[in-house]
Amino acid sequence: MKTEALLKLEQSIGELKKEFISKIESGAQKVDSIRVEYMGKKGRLTSLLETLVSLPKEEKPEGGKLVTGFRTFISEKIEELKKNAQSSNISKLLSDSCVDVSLPVDSNKGSLHPIMHMKQEIIEAFHKLGFSYCDGPEVDFDFYNFQALNFSPDHPARDMQDTFFVDDKSASEPVLLRTHTSNIQIHTMLDRTPPIKIFAPGRTFRCDSDVTHTPMFHQVEALMIDQAISFADMKGIILWFLREIFGQDVTIRLRPSYFPFVEPGGEVDMRCVRCKGEGCNICKGTGWLEIAGCGMVHPNVLEAVGYDSERYMGFAFGFGIDRMAMLKYDISDSRMFYEGDKNFLSQFPIFLK
Ligand code: PHE
Repeated sequence: MKTEALLKLEQSIGELKKEFISKIESGAQKVDSIRVEYMGKKGRLTSLLETLVSLPKEEKPEGGKLVTGFRTFISEKIEELKKNAQSSNISKLLSDSCVDVSLPVDSNKGSLHPIMHMKQEIIEAFHKLGFSYCDGPEVDFDFYNFQALNFSPDHPARDMQDTFFVDDKSASEPVLLRTHTSNIQIHTMLDRTPPIKIFAPGRTFRCDSDVTHTPMFHQVEALMIDQAISFADMKGIILWFLREIFGQDVTIRLRPSYFPFVEPGGEVDMRCVRCKGEGCNICKGTGWLEIAGCGMVHPNVLEAVGYDSERYMGFAFGFGIDRMAMLKYDISDSRMFYEGDKNFLSQFPIFLK
């Protein structure tokens, strides 16, 4: 025989269940408020638990089962309701926000990101010089990023370029995010025959982050290969290019430097655009800004792509686009480019043409 208390519990659960079902069917109350009403600290279920306490010991297990069964029923229903509400919210959002493509364009909306604007100017300058645009993979094999560029597997210069490796077990050699745009030199030379006169802007990746370094940044590579190309040609082109971007009063100097894929190799310094050589915080008091790496393509690189290094020669140089944009637009922290902060970006009202 069931005690009165247990019968009362069964009855209350039955009533609560009916009430709960009619509530969710009517849809008048928000799901969350139903949840609080039944499952909250002072909710209906808690008062059922109180009745449970008053049951005689031998009926407690059965009473407990009834209450837990009811609790599971309620929480499952609420979860289901929540899911339905979410998907109908999404469909409502989608139907409310449909875009009318026939509306006239508001030409005051949106601007080019400063990096993209810088890239655009670089593209125009190279086109004026007769260089053609090239592209290349951002995820590449070690061969293109290092090996063919005269970095042997244990070459210490690899350490200068903190590399992101991609975990690709099916690949026969390391796969990586390119650390520079110089991989495009190799792709281009393997695809074409000289004369070559190309430039290639693009994203590059190094495991590095501070005010002047972000893990993703942009470079532009230039490569010219023919039968009679000199270091002086390279210097003239770099100077013309920088004057086109930063103004006619630009002066440069070349310092010897080491990159395994060029010989001789150098670094290009531009007289500081801010202080004009007097010395300021941008140029750290030196009056000069380091802006590019350059040099004559190493014979080993020409041979790696099957060119006759006795017959062909050429130069390559690489600029940091983010660095150029920082100098051009007076930006002190390169990380700001990638924070998507509207206040920062709206300071560059460079509207789409
Ligand atoms: N790839 C070099 C770097 O990222 C720059 C460079 C390009 C140097 C072409 C020489 C020639 O540092």
